[in-house]
Amino acid sequence: MAEKGKEKENGKPLEEVVKEKVKKEALSWGEWVRGWFYLAYEMLFQRIVACNLENPMPLPPINDLTYIVTGSTSGIGKEIARQLAEAGGHVVMAVRNTKAANDLITKWQEEWSGKGLPLNIEVMKLDLLSLDSVVRFADAWNARSGPLHALINNAGIFSIGEPQKISKDGYEEHLQVNHLAPALLSVLLLPSLIRGSPSRIVNVNSIMHYIGFVDPEDMNVTSGKRKYTSLVGYSSSKLAEVMFSSVLNKRLPAEAGINVVCVSPGIVQTNVARDLPKIVQAGYHLIPYFIFSPAEGSRSALFAATDPQLGELCEALKAEDWPVCAFISHDCRPANPSEEAHSVETAYKVWEKTLEMIGLPSDAVEKLIEGQEVECRYGGSSQSQ
Ligand SMILES: NC(=O)c1ccc[n+]([C@@H]2O[C@H](COP(=O)([O-])OP(=O)(O)OC[C@H]3O[C@@H](n4cnc5c(N)ncnc54)[C@H](OP(=O)(O)O)[C@@H]3O)[C@@H](O)[C@H]2O)c1
Repeated sequence: MAEKGKEKENGKPLEEVVKEKVKKEALSWGEWVRGWFYLAYEMLFQRIVACNLENPMPLPPINDLTYIVTGSTSGIGKEIARQLAEAGGHVVMAVRNTKAANDLITKWQEEWSGKGLPLNIEVMKLDLLSLDSVVRFADAWNARSGPLHALINNAGIFSIGEPQKISKDGYEEHLQVNHLAPALLSVLLLPSLIRGSPSRIVNVNSIMHYIGFVDPEDMNVTSGKRKYTSLVGYSSSKLAEVMFSSVLNKRLPAEAGINVVCVSPGIVQTNVARDLPKIVQAGYHLIPYFIFSPAEGSRSALFAATDPQLGELCEALKAEDWPVCAFISHDCRPANPSEEAHSVETAYKVWEKTLEMIGLPSDAVEKLIEGQEVECRYGGSSQSQ
């Protein structure tokens, strides 16, 4: 008889085999309750927890460093772009509404005039609802052969109360805008990030990933196994982003000099609630004490993009083989992502499924780091260093 606890099936310990067979189909009650508790806690106490932070937050010298900020025509991204430019950075506003971005630049230049050199800020077209657009953006940027010091994946949607929508690429829209398109952009821009190293990928995530659950075999939530709501779409897309970021961070060798960080901006008064009925929006705007302004909400992303010491934390986590990437909370302190985000097995499945969905080969990261070409199913082009 086999010794107790040592039984094996196909060379694997039985415990592991059983775990694999009993596939998790949702968060446990405990995880779900804890997730909602963290959310309520952030909503009620974020201002007290972050009371030590200045607003706007002073930034370290960033002259001549280049930042790409997605979704910088509104809310948190608009603040991130303006503050980085005013601190001397070269900012690329990667947006779908280029007219709105150019109007903002004109306004910011006028307000800034007389305070220093004109702001070094430009606009490039990027629509995350089109993976072709992501590849075209990356091609255009990489063709400059210049360095990139931080990619700030800020753009996001939360279509509260809306029915499920599928993009023209065939993906649930929250998943595409909040996870798939930023993942594709991050991988395709690796050659430029290597040129800018030490450099960072900063993903503006959310405390709501705590109530998210990702089934790698049903990332679109269309199989009928789970009922789709906008809350499920949003929270799952944010959890998928943490999982993908954690695997990407691990796969980037120290020599590449690129760190991946996720941040929570807090609960912030922006256009994110644009889909709510007008009456609910009015209520949302009546509780400003609890809700951060966009400037307050931009601090964690600005910190993650510019703090000179943060790279050490990222390297230490990697050296300890910590299962998740660095996660910076709305108070600019390191925090622990959700328990589900720590599931290494699911994270690797999400990684593989994501690469498949965004049309990249499984060794895309390794090839790009070595300076080789990578074929992408979208955009009809190939990328190289
Ligand atoms: N506000 C909060 O309480 C909160 C909390 C946690 C996390 N976040 C995260 O913070 C990030 C910024 O959100 P926000 O609150 O600042 O919301 P926001 O005011 O609605 O800004 C979102 C930005 O994303 C852009 N965007 C949306 N869809 C896009 C697409 N298909 N292609 C390119 N850009 C697109 C928007 O562009 P248009 O103006 O053209 O639509 C806008 O510039 C998001 O990732 C969000 O999930 C927000």
